[in-house]
Amino acid sequence: MDKLVIEGGKPLSGTIVIQGAKNAALPILAASMLVEGKVTIDHVPKLLDIDVMLNILRELGCRAEHEDETVQLDTSTLHSSHIPEALMRQMRSSIFLMGPLLARFGEVTIYQPGGCAIGERKIDLHLSGLQALGAEIEEDGSRIACYAKKLRGAEIHLDFPSVGATENIMMAAVLAEGLTTISNAAREPEIQDLQHFLNRMGAKIIGAGTDTITVEGVEKLEPCSYQVIPDRIVTGTVMVAAAATRGQVTLLNTCPSHLTSLIHVLRRTGVQIAVDGDIIKVGAAMRPKSIDRIVTSPYPAFPTDLQSQIMVLLALADGVSVMKETIFEGRFKHVDELARMGADIRVDLSSAFIRGVSRLYGATVEATDLRAGAALVIAGLAAQGKTVVEQVHHIDRGYDRIEAMFGRLGARMTRFTPIANNTVVP
Ligand code: UD1
Repeated sequence: MDKLVIEGGKPLSGTIVIQGAKNAALPILAASMLVEGKVTIDHVPKLLDIDVMLNILRELGCRAEHEDETVQLDTSTLHSSHIPEALMRQMRSSIFLMGPLLARFGEVTIYQPGGCAIGERKIDLHLSGLQALGAEIEEDGSRIACYAKKLRGAEIHLDFPSVGATENIMMAAVLAEGLTTISNAAREPEIQDLQHFLNRMGAKIIGAGTDTITVEGVEKLEPCSYQVIPDRIVTGTVMVAAAATRGQVTLLNTCPSHLTSLIHVLRRTGVQIAVDGDIIKVGAAMRPKSIDRIVTSPYPAFPTDLQSQIMVLLALADGVSVMKETIFEGRFKHVDELARMGADIRVDLSSAFIRGVSRLYGATVEATDLRAGAALVIAGLAAQGKTVVEQVHHIDRGYDRIEAMFGRLGARMTRFTPIANNTVVP
């Protein structure tokens, strides 16, 4: 497994262009299966999760090319709606294919994606949403088969505003007969992006971005070209890294309105932030101030996907901060790793109590999941001395060559890849 070696303690400085959003691109690629023909998606980042999704689509018969940041799909050769178990297990987001494949083929087979490092991650809301649209569901061990001769619009209330369930139901409802209303829908920007994409293909959806989404079923969709939104979590990761290293960074291709909660928190720590159109400038010179309480919650509140990264900044702050995680039960795995670097953090159930230290020190640490890995990279950049981050494949799921990204901002970071005889090459 690859490792990153980081020589820390150098303020980040310079300008960076932010990649397209993984969490927008994945459902959009899945939604492309609703139409027959050629679809072009731009600003699709080169990531492990995107590779896995494209491999699943190829396995189902779709033609898929990913050059630079453009994905070209030809869905006219799609012939199967049975997602192989091995591929399903590689990525939870394959669940997004349920709605579109059910709508296109009248049946779909998937396997329980199971839990993951950050929590149990149930799919009951996906399944009950599809059932409400008229699907029959058969569960046999981890295999889930779903059938529907014709999907029919329905009124669906989500007990929790799940991002994935909202997206799956939207995609299934697009070709259903009649009107579907999703109440207590998730409001994340990626859901608005999915609405824009589906409407570009001829769907009739309104309300994404609010808690009520209405989908008027249409007979058929037409292929289109589309560009995905900037990645708000990568943007936030770079902003926090700039702050933690006390650097000066300009971020291009951002959507500042998607990051209101992070900008508010960073300003409270004393970080200078200037916003101009799609440009964000971040500058920090002083030790950050602590924040009495941050709570992760569905959008527009503070995102769980930035919880581990901001914790690094708070670990360096003057004073005690409290972080409460309400979305995923297992999302404090980075805490033990940060402790190896000198952080003083105590976890009690879903809250972390962070007593800021004046300095972190380089150490060998392990990325346990995608965003925990990003946090360790930030900690390594800010720390004094050398940090080795292991299990980098978790980070590659969501960041396009993170060492190159931070390298552009002056970071001293090298990737080492093991070769057969256990030696490593940069
Ligand atoms: C998406 C994001 C992920 C982010 C998360 C929360 C993608 C590809 N991933 O994940 O990066 O961390 O939103 O912002 O967009 N739940 C149920 N039953 C369900 C579905 C979800 O109980 O059927 C629970 C989950 O266990 C979890 C919570 O709801 O505790 C949030 O999950 P959800 O919003 O569905 O997240 P994802 O769509 O999986």
